[in-house]
Amino acid sequence: MSKSKHVFLPKFYKALDLTSYQKEFLDYLENINWVKEPKNLYQPIDYILQLSGKRIRPILTLMAADILSNGYKQAMPAALAVEVFHNFTLVHDDIMDDAPLRRGKETVHEKWDLNTGILSGDAMLILAYQYFENYEPVVFQKLAKLFSKTALEVCDGQQLDIDFETRNDVTIDEYINMIRLKTSVLVAAALKMGAIVANASDEDSDLLYEYGLNLGLAFQLQDDYLDTFGNPETFGKQVGGDIIENKKTFLYLKSLELSNKEDQQKLQTLYQQKLEDNTLKISEVKRIFERYDIPTIIKKLISDYTIASFSSLDKMNISKENKEKLKNFGSFLMARNK
Ligand code: IPE
Ligand code: IPE
Ligand code: MG
Ligand code: MG
Ligand code: MG
Repeated sequence: MSKSKHVFLPKFYKALDLTSYQKEFLDYLENINWVKEPKNLYQPIDYILQLSGKRIRPILTLMAADILSNGYKQAMPAALAVEVFHNFTLVHDDIMDDAPLRRGKETVHEKWDLNTGILSGDAMLILAYQYFENYEPVVFQKLAKLFSKTALEVCDGQQLDIDFETRNDVTIDEYINMIRLKTSVLVAAALKMGAIVANASDEDSDLLYEYGLNLGLAFQLQDDYLDTFGNPETFGKQVGGDIIENKKTFLYLKSLELSNKEDQQKLQTLYQQKLEDNTLKISEVKRIFERYDIPTIIKKLISDYTIASFSSLDKMNISKENKEKLKNFGSFLMARNK
């Protein structure tokens, strides 16, 4: 992998004292040679993995292992498995969402083609599992079991997300369940994998998992907020993509709930359309979201889930300092702009 990658180091971790986890992880990633024959299978894997992701999930794995065992190096293969799996989901998600941009660059299926996106994604899923072979049988089994359960849940969530595009009776509870499956369970599993490698008690592992579930909900709500209200210069994805694809996000569902008949009808009509030029659709939808103060409402919900996540940490048998470290990470995620 190219050394120039370091220019992508996300600066925002510096203030959080997470630079060591991040740097160690990127060094580990950089030393892996992804590209072998056939190149058309492996080059896209190298491409997506070297783009400037935030590396949130591996950082969580390393942080969990460090907090529960005073050392994070042993968690590196598990952290890599999580990041490779996450990147696999991104490659396939971008196909499913017809997304042109990922991390400020062309998506894999746009840069190559659909078949490349499918097969390189499949290979990444398998590569992710292979990293567990670095652990002894008992740990291996626990990791693989958690991972399989999680991966299947992500598929469930992704299918619901797609099903919701063409349904017009989706409830907010259904939406929350869908984002729990497509996003939260992986955040939670990333933490729990760190706990497994650290041989932590079941109680602490489960509390970390619970923390991750709420944090993951806040994280996906923030992602949905940024998809509509993010800055195209910094977001790295196509702003308005969820509106184009008729995604029944909290922004949409809450607007429907609060709006008058006229706006309700307008929203429902707009969300039945698939257009060539989406400029007008995006601006009209945004205007309705803003009319009902949805940005403020979703920000409050993001904050509520983040605070809820902290209550799991309070029950944990770890130092105050370490609780603060995890809380600071949660607060950072809530305020991110990409
Ligand atoms: C994007 O995840 C997919 C979601 C679950 C919202 P990230 O926002 O963690 O993406 P990268 O890895 O930093 O690009
Ligand atoms: C992310 O949902 C879920 C997974 C990738 C599993 P999104 O479709 O909102 O993710 P982005 O916005 O494309 O990163
Ligand atoms: Mg998606
Ligand atoms: Mg997507
Ligand atoms: Mg999104």
